[in-house]
Amino acid sequence: MIQKIKIIKTLIFIFSISFSFSANAMTVEEIIKGRKAMFSENYQNAKKISILLKSKRIEEAKPLMKKISDNYIKLLDYFPENAKEGFKTGALPSIWENKDEFNALMKKASDDMIKLAKAIETAEDLRAVQKELMWSNCTACHSRFRAPH
Ligand code: HEC
Repeated sequence: MIQKIKIIKTLIFIFSISFSFSANAMTVEEIIKGRKAMFSENYQNAKKISILLKSKRIEEAKPLMKKISDNYIKLLDYFPENAKEGFKTGALPSIWENKDEFNALMKKASDDMIKLAKAIETAEDLRAVQKELMWSNCTACHSRFRAPH
């Protein structure tokens, strides 16, 4: 019995080690380039959403909103301590000085995209609701956490 527990404990240990290695497998370059690519993708999709909503193509816009929302959640893991500089990052040090606030803004931006997908079903003014639930979050975060460009 004791022997079995020992074996199980050893297996758990090996699994946890290999898991933590695979989770940290990305290089700083991959992290910084990865987050830039996700922000760019969000921007492209946000512009597509605006165009679709101009012609009231609501159902086509919804999956793009979900995609942006999911990207924001993934982005939470793309600002580790070791990825503060290099590779032309536009991320400001204020991110790591106010990590809780930064993460809260990211989560809010994600939640708001889900709210937007719901709001466009009934909203009178599609432009206003996009401004409120999509574009304002870009500005709110960039003004504090992204270098001027
Ligand atoms: C919670 C914070 C946050 C939110 C919300 C946010 N951004 Fe950003 N964004 C950043 C940060 C930080 C960077 C810099 C990343 C880097 O260079 O490492 C950035 C970079 C970018 C870039 C440049 C990517 C590149 O290739 O260098 C674009 C474009 C962009 N954001 C667009 C948007 C748009 C559009 C929105 C809203 C729909 C948005 N962002 C919402 C924080 C945010």
